[in-house]
Amino acid sequence: MKALLEAAEAARARAHAPYSGFTVGAAVLAEDGTIHTGCNVEISSYSHTCCAERVAVFKAVSEGRTRLTACAVVTDISPPASPCGACRQVLNDFGPELTMYLANPAGEVIEVALAELLPKAFTPEQVLRKIKARHGGGSEQR
Ligand code: THU
Repeated sequence: MKALLEAAEAARARAHAPYSGFTVGAAVLAEDGTIHTGCNVEISSYSHTCCAERVAVFKAVSEGRTRLTACAVVTDISPPASPCGACRQVLNDFGPELTMYLANPAGEVIEVALAELLPKAFTPEQVLRKIKARHGGGSEQR
């Protein structure tokens, strides 16, 4: 957990947040023990901005790690910030059992299950079931 928090804090130093000034660092832990980091990347056309958590997940997946077990998020606010809704969904697709560590440089750490942040989640299985029913010749589920 310490290594994951340190990685997220180091990533926060690379945040590109010239518009909001709100810097975020994230680190995800994959099942094989590898850590993948991300920072928020703000874009001049604001809506194209990507959160730190999603950058970290996409980097992990692009490196072949699709099963994530933990995620640390560091901001400099108190209490520590929670991931936005979009990031919760992205994290859930690759780590429904994931443990979140929400932290700040002052040393506050909140441990919370992603399932608690995103109850009754929409899941990849729901889409895949529908696709299988459509292409597998079985009766379509509603
Ligand atoms: N941000 C994140 O990186 N993660 C979140 O979960 C919430 C928000 C970023 C996006 C934007 O660059 C800045 O924080 C302010 O919203």
